[in-house]
Amino acid sequence: MRLLTGMYHELKGNLKRELCHLRVRPLCSIAFLTYRCTNCCKTCNIWQQGSDGSDELDRDGWLRVVGNMSRLGVRTMEIFGGDALLRKDAIFDVIRSCREHGMETYFPTNANLCDQETVTRLMDSCLDMLYVSVDDIGEAHDQVRGVQGNFAKVENALESFFRLRGDRETPRLGIVCTLSRLNFRSFPRLVEFMEQYPVSVVYPRYLAEFSPKGIAASSVEGLLPEPFYLSTDGGSHLIRSDELAEFKEMVAAMKRRRHKVYVDWTTYYSSTDATYLKGEYPQASCRVATTLMTVCPNGDVSPCPMYRNYVLGNLARENPEAIWGNDKHRRFVQAQQSGQLPVCLNCNIKTYHNSSIPGKLKYYGIRAAEKSGFYKWS
Ligand SMILES: C[S@@+](CC[C@H](N)C(=O)[O-])C[C@H]1O[C@@H](n2cnc3c(N)ncnc32)[C@H](O)[C@@H]1O
Ligand code: SF4
Ligand code: SF4
Repeated sequence: MRLLTGMYHELKGNLKRELCHLRVRPLCSIAFLTYRCTNCCKTCNIWQQGSDGSDELDRDGWLRVVGNMSRLGVRTMEIFGGDALLRKDAIFDVIRSCREHGMETYFPTNANLCDQETVTRLMDSCLDMLYVSVDDIGEAHDQVRGVQGNFAKVENALESFFRLRGDRETPRLGIVCTLSRLNFRSFPRLVEFMEQYPVSVVYPRYLAEFSPKGIAASSVEGLLPEPFYLSTDGGSHLIRSDELAEFKEMVAAMKRRRHKVYVDWTTYYSSTDATYLKGEYPQASCRVATTLMTVCPNGDVSPCPMYRNYVLGNLARENPEAIWGNDKHRRFVQAQQSGQLPVCLNCNIKTYHNSSIPGKLKYYGIRAAEKSGFYKWS
């Protein structure tokens, strides 16, 4: 029954996204309040890209962005970074303003700056969902995230969050775990650890790692992509072929086991061996470039988080109607849809915003067959 209800709601949302995709209309957004970060993760290079922050919009600039998004019909905002809690001067008012404009807000955090007062303010601002990024337990987590003491901050944030939320159902809290060869063996332990908290969901999400070759071959109008999922310690973190069987057995065992927390394996069903070994995400179609508005720290809008220099306009300063769907945007969409951007092969973000109806029906078909015990996806 839960599967059927989930399918109904997802298909309804997907239909709306498909219509926006065809018309090149924005439905959701990802707002980089800053590229500055308090972690130095091995799997992500955003922390190496941040400037001193002097070009970032101030609070009022971000409130204009929210108002303009609402005029365009944007329904959700993912507050993103870097560490967006470096912008405590703006983040709470941005979330509140989204609520006032009827937009849902999601906020992934590394928890470094998520102390008790911050959690209280996030709740008072009516945040809809907090995602806490956790890659392992204790010191092993700190190793992946490049900063000692980060795991202790995660624990503090979780304790504060659930104590302060009490019996209320919102905000919801999800755990995001980026699986790679650095941590996949620890994932069962991590889920066990999370069972002590009433977390809404744990998302295991496989690593993205962009290939330099794909980047170099993907210029659009002379601009190269600048993806942020690159290794920062010189080595690849994709699992190796001699580890693949062990990885798959871990996933199969976790899917068989009953947990006190819900583990969402959705992205697993759109992954192949090439995903695990080469970082290739096979789905060709991208709904991000057509329906997800990327806003940079200075208010510039781009059609893709990986092409922050392909600027369509500025949402804090310009007429919003002249930005999304303009000629420059349509040229980008045309390049993406005609397969001219090899960089897209390594992009995991497109899979989170996949609204292809046949793809979803296939996913629910597989899940139903698995539940009946007649079929096993591997
Ligand atoms: C880029 S961070 C931004 C928000 C915040 N700094 C955080 O870490 O939660 C968003 C998510 O990307 C995840 N991530 C980091 N490296 C990744 C990679 N190479 N592939 C996929 N996801 C990755 C992080 O663990 C986090 O959950
Ligand atoms: S994953 Fe998040 S915390 Fe880590 S470097 Fe990237 S932006 Fe910072
Ligand atoms: S598939 Fe390509 S255009 Fe779409 S979000 Fe990913 S990198 Fe950007």
